[in-house]
Amino acid sequence: MEATITLGPGYALPEEEQIAATYQHLLRRLSHQSVVKHFDAYADIDWDADEYRIDPEDPRWELDEDDVLGATAWYRAQAQATRARLGLHLVATKMKTGVQFENALQRGLLEFAFTRPNGSPEFRYVYHEVIEEGQHSLMFQEFVNRTGFDVPGLGFWDRLGARRVVAAARRFPALFFIFVLGGEDPIDHVQRTVLRSGHPIHPLLRRIMQIHVTEEARHLCFARHYLRAEVPRLRAAARASLALQAPLVLGPMAQLMMRPSRQVVRTYGIPDEVIAEAYTSNPRHRQDMLAALGKLRDLCREVGIVTPWSVPLWRVAGIWQEERDGDRGR
Ligand SMILES: [Fe+2]
Ligand SMILES: [Fe+2]
Repeated sequence: MEATITLGPGYALPEEEQIAATYQHLLRRLSHQSVVKHFDAYADIDWDADEYRIDPEDPRWELDEDDVLGATAWYRAQAQATRARLGLHLVATKMKTGVQFENALQRGLLEFAFTRPNGSPEFRYVYHEVIEEGQHSLMFQEFVNRTGFDVPGLGFWDRLGARRVVAAARRFPALFFIFVLGGEDPIDHVQRTVLRSGHPIHPLLRRIMQIHVTEEARHLCFARHYLRAEVPRLRAAARASLALQAPLVLGPMAQLMMRPSRQVVRTYGIPDEVIAEAYTSNPRHRQDMLAALGKLRDLCREVGIVTPWSVPLWRVAGIWQEERDGDRGR
């Protein structure tokens, strides 16, 4: 979703002003789209429809062999009902994690909006985004409630959300938007992959994911363009700080979001060696993680916050990959 500014023949803005004008124009377009295409968690989902009923033993919750845990002999050896319950439990945990992530995100966006001047198109767009995240959280939480699983989510969001993320949104918004993309980009990647996979998906889950990817496309677009417009204007020390903190934030986030929670591991007694086989020492899982963070890694390169000295940090965090097709890394 790129915005362009046409000013007529013979008239061109200097590059920096052009970037700023394009960014302002984009914000107005995104805000307009939020008005004409948005969803309500209760008006747009018929929760009590027969086909949306959740049966924890429905085979459509089972993990298939494309899933790293679903591919293990241990998982395949479980009874059908257990396989289905475990699959639904994982979905419920992810939704709860989504609610927690969006809670920190909304608080951060409100902090950011607080610092915007009168007339700022960022102020308006960010409020649209806060409202949309509110609808997403209502829909995720309603889903969790209907599964019957009392999932705790992750303490991680609570600690990180309260202390660092919300504070960064006001004092260092570029870092905040790296965090935002660290949560939104992998979730979006996973949801799009599932929707495209052609595997049978429970219709309620499909509806929720379709709504989510539609609205997240705007959020991702905004965060990416914010970073493109803002990072080049930062002082060298602030850019170095971003280069240092990006892999430190993104590594743990990716690990946490793509692995089963402790509650799931305990409830089904998943042995350590199965966790190692599926996640810790599974090249396919590593590949999935790299793919989920691919766009964000490319963006960090593009805006100049991947430096020769920060690459080892990305490697240690397990999220480094040499540049993809046609990209030029640093
Ligand atoms: Fe969302
Ligand atoms: Fe979002």
